Amino acid sequence: MIYLTGGWDGTGGWSGVEGEASTGEEPSARRRASAPPQDPQVAAWKSLVAKNFAGDAACASCHAEQAEAHRRSGHSHTLVPMHQSQWAKALLESAVYKDPRRKQTFQFQGDDKQFVVRDISQPATPAMPVTWLLGSGAHAQTPIWVDEASQRGVEMRWSYLAPIEGIGLTPDHDRFDDYPEGSVECYGRPLDHADVRACLGCHATVTPPPNLPIGEDLIVPNVGCERCHGPRKQHVVLAEQGLAEQAKPLVPLDDPQAAMEVCVQCHRDADSVSPTATAEELVRFQPYGLKRSRCFTESDGRMSCSTCHDPHDAVATDRSAYIARCQQCHQPNSPGDCPQSPAGDCIECHMPAVPWTAGIEFHDHWIRSPE
Ligand code: HEC
Ligand code: HEC
Ligand code: HEC
Ligand code: HEC
Ligand code: HEC
Ligand code: HEC
Ligand code: HEC
Repeated sequence: MIYLTGGWDGTGGWSGVEGEASTGEEPSARRRASAPPQDPQVAAWKSLVAKNFAGDAACASCHAEQAEAHRRSGHSHTLVPMHQSQWAKALLESAVYKDPRRKQTFQFQGDDKQFVVRDISQPATPAMPVTWLLGSGAHAQTPIWVDEASQRGVEMRWSYLAPIEGIGLTPDHDRFDDYPEGSVECYGRPLDHADVRACLGCHATVTPPPNLPIGEDLIVPNVGCERCHGPRKQHVVLAEQGLAEQAKPLVPLDDPQAAMEVCVQCHRDADSVSPTATAEELVRFQPYGLKRSRCFTESDGRMSCSTCHDPHDAVATDRSAYIARCQQCHQPNSPGDCPQSPAGDCIECHMPAVPWTAGIEFHDHWIRSPE
């Protein structure tokens, strides 16, 4: 799906995007108008984004229901500049954090423009800026540092963990207890160029092509409307003229399998999970589980994430709605159906919550008979 990765073809165009895909006259005119002067490629990128993407706020006036649901969902706040986050404010008040597994005490400093962490147990080690906070906080939030130019970074050792409602060791970081003093590993796990782009790529609507700096002003953060629906500027322009039907959907989301492939890009199926992932880790990847279920493989392509979820909204916890979905296909008391508890909470037995790490749980989407 070209538009999602940027479709950057070196000349400043999106391939596969409606509207004009060339830099032409308009961007150079914009460049002249914009002050201070910018790297031409940066300016071209900004104008390309402005030309194709309308932004979430532009959709709300006509699609109030989806917009309201989206504001509740983690999708709409899964990537924020660290210094702008609520959690940064709380950390600045507490000011220090002692690492539970290393002899280190971290100190937080900042204001409304920046956030930095230093290791006060090793005063010679330079402080590190913290650039982005990933995750809405429904389960966890993990901060990272990204160096704009080299596009390398560090995943911090400390995260917000919802089960303890506070700061703790970032999931999986017990593997990194040993570290060379004075190195970036003092602050956490080093991220190479590909890691940084992967993190931001799954938590953003648009990220700039690899040849540009990965700066805050070049990223459209969060999983916005246009991450799933594709760039919709043209749709907005036409809809305002009463011509909405002329802007054809870019992604055929009324086809269940096409819609599910959009979710797979980030939520992951068998093609994109690590071969070394443990059973507990795999439970985090809902498409991986669902695609192994007989419910999915034996229902003629009718099943997708939208069978049970509104893709715009936060996960519903009202079990009766889910049970009703099961019963659309599994009528109680029909031959061959659940011999155990045909009317109970199907989810407890067939999609149980499985602990992942640090008290965080995920529901097993591989629907099957319990062992
Ligand atoms: C000025 C009003 C208006 C605005 C603003 C608007 N839409 Fe729409 N949208 C419509 C109308 C009217 C339809 C129904 C058109 C049709 O039946 O094809 C529609 C249909 C849709 C559909 C279903 C058909 C399709 O194209 O897939 C989606 C998805 C959609 N809009 C997304 C968006 C997004 C995302 C935004 C913001 C970037 C947005 N709309 C902004 C009026 C608007
Ligand atoms: C660009 C990557 C991306 C895509 C595409 C994507 N998701 Fe997500 N999704 C995320 C991230 C990241 C989160 C975690 C949000 C958070 O921080 O809480 C998430 C969270 C969710 C949640 C939990 C929301 C909540 O607040 O309870 C649901 C449900 C969900 N996604 C369903 C879907 C479905 C269905 C699709 C496909 C139609 C989809 N997602 C496509 C990245 C994505
Ligand atoms: C392949 C896409 C992908 C990549 C790469 C990715 N994430 Fe996520 N991330 C997701 C999705 C999807 C979720 C939602 C998981 C869920 O709730 O089902 C998520 C959730 C999270 C959460 C919330 C806790 C949780 O598990 O729900 C944090 C924090 C997070 N990611 C941080 C990161 C960091 C830091 C990186 C880079 C080191 C990263 N992510 C890379 C897709 C991705
Ligand atoms: C995580 C992916 C995702 C995001 C983000 C997303 N949508 Fe959708 N949207 C879908 C899918 C999938 C459908 C197809 C219908 C369904 O499965 O419920 C859809 C359908 C729609 C429709 C058609 C009517 C309907 O509800 O079926 C409209 C309008 C729409 N979306 C607007 C928006 C707007 C506006 C936003 C941002 C506020 C948005 N969407 C964000 C995935 C997404
Ligand atoms: C779109 C239709 C559909 C929905 C919705 C659905 N299933 Fe299924 N399910 C099937 C089909 C088809 C099969 C395989 C044939 C059969 O057992 O009827 C199946 C099989 C199963 C099996 C046996 C799996 C095995 O490996 O032996 C269980 C258990 C099950 N479903 C439970 C559920 C539960 C619980 C829900 C709701 C969370 C649900 N299903 C939702 C269609 C569906
Ligand atoms: C047969 C119904 C069903 C289908 C289909 C389904 N889910 Fe779920 N999902 C659930 C249930 C039930 C929960 C747990 C709700 C609760 O907390 O009570 C859940 C929870 C989630 C959560 C919250 C984290 C967790 O695991 O508890 C995410 C994210 C999610 N689903 C994403 C998806 C995605 C992405 C797809 C498509 C690949 C999908 N789901 C398909 C039933 C379903
Ligand atoms: C108390 C736990 C429990 C609850 C609640 C429960 N089930 Fe089951 N279900 C089981 C067990 C255990 C089996 C496997 C029985 C066996 O293999 O003999 C099973 C088997 C099934 C099967 C496969 C039957 C077959 O042909 O092999 C389906 C379908 C199913 N359940 C659907 C449901 C639905 C739908 C619900 C909710 C209305 C539900 N179950 C509630 C425990 C439960």
